[in-house]
Amino acid sequence: SLRLGDIAPDFEQDSSAGKIRFHEWLGDSWGVLFSHPADFTPVCTTELGFTAKLKDEFAQRGVKAIALSVDPVDSHHKWIEDINETQNTRVNFPILADADRKVSDLYDLIHPNANDTLTVRSLFVIDPNKKIRLTITYPASTGRNFHEILRVIDSLQLTDNYKVATPANWQDGDEVVIVPSLKDEEEIKRRFPKGYRAVKPYLRLTPQPNR
Ligand code: BEZ
Repeated sequence: SLRLGDIAPDFEQDSSAGKIRFHEWLGDSWGVLFSHPADFTPVCTTELGFTAKLKDEFAQRGVKAIALSVDPVDSHHKWIEDINETQNTRVNFPILADADRKVSDLYDLIHPNANDTLTVRSLFVIDPNKKIRLTITYPASTGRNFHEILRVIDSLQLTDNYKVATPANWQDGDEVVIVPSLKDEEEIKRRFPKGYRAVKPYLRLTPQPNR
């Protein structure tokens, strides 16, 4: 199975927006690839509708979203009409039609002890180097929290650029922690001119540096 830091496998597959060559389609963007159990199911309808509504949030972060189920393209097209109607939005990202399970096998999206044939609710955040940076897997009965996905992307994009990590329940704009490996006081002053407070020598909080 795929682990953090692995290269997201490339593939070519049909989708509601035509044939997708995954790495080429990602280009220099971040990606969110997420699977759902089946078309015309209630929780999935709300998940895809909500993702469509987050279009601007994804765009601000340079992220492209792409969904997947093992249903064929014509089913996706019919279901998209329902999503648009019931969720008051327009689906603005491709849904992979993985009827031959090519991508499901590559990304280990079918968990036979949960369900023999349907994909689970897995989600991968992929960075511009095509590395997997987040994986989550939810059961079919629980819709995902897409605000949490945006929060993790904010954290990844911040911590890639500054020597910080984000504490429990962090939200964009909150204090962050200075990475424990950074010890040199001169470097700390240079990197964090707003200063920091040390709760413990290993727990040093500083205002979010890109604010
Ligand atoms: C749903 O999306 O609503 C769903 C899909 C599969 C099993 C249970 C619920």
